[in-house]
Amino acid sequence: MDFLALAKASALAAGRLQREFFDKEVEIRRKGEIDLVTEVDLKSEKLIVDILKASGIPVLGEEEAKAEPVGRYWLVDPLDGTTNYAHRFPWFAPSIALMEDKQPVLGVIYHVMLDELFWAERGKGAYLNGRRLSVSRIDDLNNAVLATGFPYGIHEDPVKVVKAFHDFLVKAQGVRRAGAAALDLAYVACGRLDGFWEPHLKPWDTAAGILLVEEAGGKVSNYLGEPYDPFQNHIVASNGLIHKEMTKIASKYLP
Ligand code: IPD
Ligand code: CA
Ligand code: CA
Ligand code: CA
Repeated sequence: MDFLALAKASALAAGRLQREFFDKEVEIRRKGEIDLVTEVDLKSEKLIVDILKASGIPVLGEEEAKAEPVGRYWLVDPLDGTTNYAHRFPWFAPSIALMEDKQPVLGVIYHVMLDELFWAERGKGAYLNGRRLSVSRIDDLNNAVLATGFPYGIHEDPVKVVKAFHDFLVKAQGVRRAGAAALDLAYVACGRLDGFWEPHLKPWDTAAGILLVEEAGGKVSNYLGEPYDPFQNHIVASNGLIHKEMTKIASKYLP
């Protein structure tokens, strides 16, 4: 079975649904004070699970699909960027990874409103709409544009996150906070961003994106520069050249 084709088909189908509802009134619930889930998140996950079912491989999704993360399983964020979606800010993506234990072997991320399909397979490179990707060549933080995000617990515990943000801000050429971690990682892979860091992400936020970055020649670690897997709660991803400079800052602000 062509798992990549299946993952792409599921991402494109979820994307179509998300585009269709983008301008409509959708039902929104709260999982926490600022942590939203829309009916489109739930519908997208159902659609993706339904398509991936053909593989016979179990699915662990952010919303309802609850496979155990062992052996081979799909790891799915049906709509990364829910706050954006709920506010009609056109920056969100389904993110789908095929996992072997803690490591992604295949990843697909679909930037819905730009119709950009990113994918990677372990050992076979990373692609955007069929074009092979490589990370940027910026080799110092001073010339780098970085991205980050803020966890849903930011109201309760903002200090470390804001201090880290400050330290990157005064070193980098620019810092972006667009609101979809999967796209931040895809953007590091294609060289539009030079680096990314964030605490408290969930496995479905990063699984597909880290494979894209690695297959595009970049580096992914935790804040300490150690090997990262998506079940850890601090990540630095970069083009490799600015990685040490980034972990030097991030390591001071371990969550
Ligand atoms: C969120 C986004 C956001 C990040 C949050 C994530 P969701 O995922 O990736 O960029 O800063 O920490 O939880 O809830 O929109 O799928
Ligand atoms: Ca997410
Ligand atoms: Ca999500
Ligand atoms: Ca969410």
